[in-house]
Parts: sequence; C-alpha cells; structure tokens
Amino acid sequence: MKLSSPTLITTFLMSMAGSSLAFQPTSFLANTSTKYVSSTTSTKSSSSSSSLSMVTTGSLNCRIIGIGSAAPKTLITNQDLESVVETSDEWISTRTGISQRRVLIHTENNDENVEKESIKTLASDAAQQAIIMSKIDPLEVDLVIVATSSPDDMFGDATSVAAACGCSNAVAFDLTAACSGFLFSSVTAGQFLDNQGNSYKNAVVVGADALSRWIDWDDRNSCILFGDGAGAVVMSANDAEDKESTPGILGSSQHSNGLGYGKLNCVYKGSPKVVATPGEGTILSQGSYSRLAMDGKEVYKFATREVPTVIKEALVAADMTVDDVDWVLLHQANIRIMETVAKRLGIPMDKVITNLAKYGNTSAASIPLALDEAVRSGQVKKGDVIACAGFGAGLSWGSAIMKWG
Ligand code: UT7
Repeated sequence: MKLSSPTLITTFLMSMAGSSLAFQPTSFLANTSTKYVSSTTSTKSSSSSSSLSMVTTGSLNCRIIGIGSAAPKTLITNQDLESVVETSDEWISTRTGISQRRVLIHTENNDENVEKESIKTLASDAAQQAIIMSKIDPLEVDLVIVATSSPDDMFGDATSVAAACGCSNAVAFDLTAACSGFLFSSVTAGQFLDNQGNSYKNAVVVGADALSRWIDWDDRNSCILFGDGAGAVVMSANDAEDKESTPGILGSSQHSNGLGYGKLNCVYKGSPKVVATPGEGTILSQGSYSRLAMDGKEVYKFATREVPTVIKEALVAADMTVDDVDWVLLHQANIRIMETVAKRLGIPMDKVITNLAKYGNTSAASIPLALDEAVRSGQVKKGDVIACAGFGAGLSWGSAIMKWG
C-alpha cells in the first residue's frame, strides 16, 4: 500500500488512531513535515494515549554513516539476582527474555587504581567509535546530542562528551525523553541536518543511561529489567547536489502523553534545609531523587498497543509499507513486547533485531547498542531499511524508519 497525498495520510492516520476525536493537520511543509494535534481534550484513560499528540516528519535529508556502543565491564546475571530479590533465572528469562545486564559500579573519586566508568566515559567511547567508522574529522562535527535521563551531571553530559571526542566546533546539549530519548534525538538531529538554511553538516547522537543508579534494588518488578550502556550514531547532511544520495530517515512519528506520567517515573524528592534568612529563616528543599517506580503491567499494555500504531504512522510518513522493511528494532524492554508488536505488524521474528538477553533494558542506549552489534556482525547491511521504535516514561513513544549507511 502506498499513500502519498496529505489527505490520504490524514485519513489513514485518523483511522489508525482509532479515536473519535478529530485530528487537525496544522501544517504541511511540502512533503517533508506534517503535524497533527488533537482538537479536543482527551477523555480517555491516562494510558490510552494515541489521541493526544502526534507529530510526523517525512524524509530527512541526512545519512547515518557511523555507529558505536559501550557497556560497563561489570556483569550481573539472572542467577546473581536470585540472592538479591525473590526471583529466578527461569522467571526472568521467560517473562522478559533477559539473561544478564551490565552495570556501572561505585568508585570513589580519589581511587587512582580503579578505572572510573561513568555515563560520560561510556557515551564518549560509543561516540568515538561512531566517529571513526564515519571517517569524518571530529572537528567537522557541528552538533552533539546526548539522550539520557541519568546523566553524571544534572546540567548535562553532552558538552563533556563532545570535548572528550575532540568535537570542539560542535554545539552540544542533552535531551531527556527516557527510553524514547535516542529516537527523539535522532529525529531532532535529522531536522537540524535537513534544513538547507543552516550550517549543520554532521551530528553525533548518543543514547546513554545508567538506570542501575536509580532502581529500587528491593523491587523485583523493576530491578531485574534494567542495565547500563551507551550507543551512538554519526549522522551527516546529504549534499543537496548529489542526485545519488537517499535519505537516512525516511519518515517518523512521535507522541507524548503526560497524563500517563505516573506509570513510570523517577521523581524529585527534597528534604528540608533551613537557610538562615532574617527572622525565622527560609525552609528550602535540598534535592535528591526517589527510586524508579513503574507499573509494569500498564507500561506493557501501553507499549503493545501504541508501538505497532506508531510504526505504521512512520511508514505512512515515509510512503512505505511493512513489506519495505528489512528489520524491526524496538527499544529493548521485553522480548514479549517485541513478539507482540512483530505479530501485530505481520513481521516475522527473524526480522526483529534484539540483544536484550545480554544487556537488559538500557533505556536511551538500547536502540543504538543493538544496531551497533547488528551492523558490526554484518546482520544489517548498507541500504537496509530499519523500522525503529522507542517508548517509555513520559509517557513518550515514537518511530523512525531509518536507512543504514
Ligand atoms: O523501558 C521502559 C519500558 N518498560 C517496559 O516496557 C516494561 C513493561 N512491563 C514488563 O515488561 C512486564 O510487565 C514485567 C516484566 C515488568 C512484569 O511481567 P508480567 O508478566 O507483567 O508480570 P506481572 O507483573 O503480571 O506479575 C506476575 C507475577 C506476580 O505474582 P502473582 O501476583 O501472580 O503471585 C508478580 O508478583 O510474577 C510476580 N513477579 C515476579 N516473580 C518472580 C513479578 N516480578 C517477579 C520477579 N520474579 N522478578
């Protein structure tokens, strides 16, 4: 099925959203950008979210030309977790598909003998590998985006990552969108590169997270799921004059729904701090964060409902169908989510890229970490079309149809 006219796309997307709400196209920028927002306030339950927001892009004129990844050295197996919470290797493997995960360990800052792994070192390692593969000079990188919800520095890790990679001409910033972070950041970078009116030619997009730092290690519902890691890509603007070049992002669709915020979060928690201002002083809040909290069942339902739909939306934006897809690459959260999504799309599991068993759910890192392994093993080849989808806290979710190389 090929849909190309805005009217057809609108009709198709409205029917897929399955909503009685009227979607109104708010802008059409030639064939490259389409935006829809709901015209009314949703009365649906907070986790039924497809009616709230949707922004799609058509093809973005850039190519994905380098990739890299990094994971901490320390390994925790399912068997190891049997002595942490009441669980079993059998339960974790069958209910999630995870066998082990890598985690950052605590090292004192003054301990010279211990190599200090951190989000910044993992992210920089992944980015450097991606830059080497891309064969561009780090000085030619104009933009560095680090997608993370667990930075080493609350003010952002991207500037340090750019500096560590020698990208001294790049503007660098973090982007927080939990497990959708890499997907949202890739589309953001694609939009910088696609815009002919600016000077952005090369971008490094990193997904990096260390949710092991924020997990409740007494909560067996969540502590068995997450691992730490980083993955990165280099994206390069296509030369407008080059007739041979084809876009690396063929279409995308992105959503968020803050009404589902309570399903998965890691919220600020303050303790009182009296500052001795004149009179009785001022009680300020001294900051820290709570542990990660997740309603696993609800997030599972949200993911299996929304991800097939958002991939179809991105395919429509790309003027493609599932038959054009070589690979499906979802945020690595649960193998049962991947199986359900693949079934709903009518795509066989041998087209689904996964390395979840080895790393668990690495949040913003999971898509580039899996893609890096698939590219380096020869599974994904130059020109292959990959339907990617991220989903998670926010709630947020999105899909991009990417072409490798
Ligand atoms: O990256 C963000 C996106 N996150 C996700 O996509 C996570 C989505 N959710 C999931 O992947 C799944 O919901 C979980 C893996 C978190 C849970 O799997 P489930 O099949 O939905 O299990 P459940 O919550 O329905 O629990 C079934 C049973 C319960 O026991 P009872 O009430 O039936 O006696 C749980 O207490 O399994 C129990 N259980 C466990 N048992 C052994 C929950 N966690 C564990 C555990 N080990 N680790």
